[in-house]
Amino acid sequence: MTATDTVTVQASEPNEFGYRDFDLGGFHFSRDEYFAHLAWPTGTHVMSIDGFLRALQRDVAWDFFYGTVNFDSVVGTVNHYGTVDLFAGRYNDAYRKAELDHVENFESPLIRETFKAMLDDWTIAGYDPFASPEETAKPFGEKKGDNTAAVTRRRVTAQRMVGVPGDEPIRTDATHPVNRMFADVAQDAPVVEPEPGFEAEVCAFNLFAYLSRSDVTWNPSVVSVCKNSLYCPTTEEFILPVIHGNDRVEWFVQLSDHIIWDVEDRDTGAKRAKVIMRAGDVAAMPGDIRHQGYSPKRSMLLVWENASPELPELIASGRAPTAPIDF
Ligand code: PHB
Ligand code: FE
Repeated sequence: MTATDTVTVQASEPNEFGYRDFDLGGFHFSRDEYFAHLAWPTGTHVMSIDGFLRALQRDVAWDFFYGTVNFDSVVGTVNHYGTVDLFAGRYNDAYRKAELDHVENFESPLIRETFKAMLDDWTIAGYDPFASPEETAKPFGEKKGDNTAAVTRRRVTAQRMVGVPGDEPIRTDATHPVNRMFADVAQDAPVVEPEPGFEAEVCAFNLFAYLSRSDVTWNPSVVSVCKNSLYCPTTEEFILPVIHGNDRVEWFVQLSDHIIWDVEDRDTGAKRAKVIMRAGDVAAMPGDIRHQGYSPKRSMLLVWENASPELPELIASGRAPTAPIDF
């Protein structure tokens, strides 16, 4: 057991492979050389450890994100912004019909600290759950070292905009070399000539150059803020490690290359659409879907979020629509 400021994480001594088991309410988590094993009062589940750690990394780094983070078609979390549901089979038609689904609600600090401890314990030296598979070592085998620096890396969240004095810095060769797949992205910077006294108010940066230097995949970061309007661009390669269940509309602008999206009903998993987005395409992902993206090449995607805290309730109660436009 590890006591943090306010919560106690329930962890065992290391098992025969060197990894701790974790308990959270009625959920039990353990790992071996290849798999994460989950158990709850009505069932058990197994996931490949690479997919599990990639999903866990996002859930931790995004602090449970907007709405639902499905690790796969069985387990995941729903953010109630203060408490979090951990579920198994809750949004899976077959589990529901067989009455095998299970949900427990936790105060956010308890599930946050448990997930952070599990992510740190189960990630071995050389494996980076945020990296593309081509750019990291493997997560398999017995416990050997850790990668705390990677799994606790700070998420970029600008207060106003990247490049504004005192806000998130521009990326340089010294801190963020250009990614191997973005070698052709121009690195010029806009010329800004503010009047004296307005140097902190009139700013600009080259977003393509900034994104070309991202060392992580499938990790929207906040680069500009206008009240509740957040520009959260990200660079993508391989598969979005979670199936995200929206609790609001999200706009996508494909800035480069292409991504294939599988879109399903948020609650049942019934297939709804396949969306192929090429550079320049714009899509509004509805507030009642879940989606997973596939990016064959490293690509740039702008995710535009409306962070208004009222939206989930407005949509759930039918007072706001699930799609921004009717055709
Ligand atoms: C999404 O669920 O909308 C999402 C999440 C992570 C990304 C891109 C999109 O990198
Ligand atoms: Fe989403």
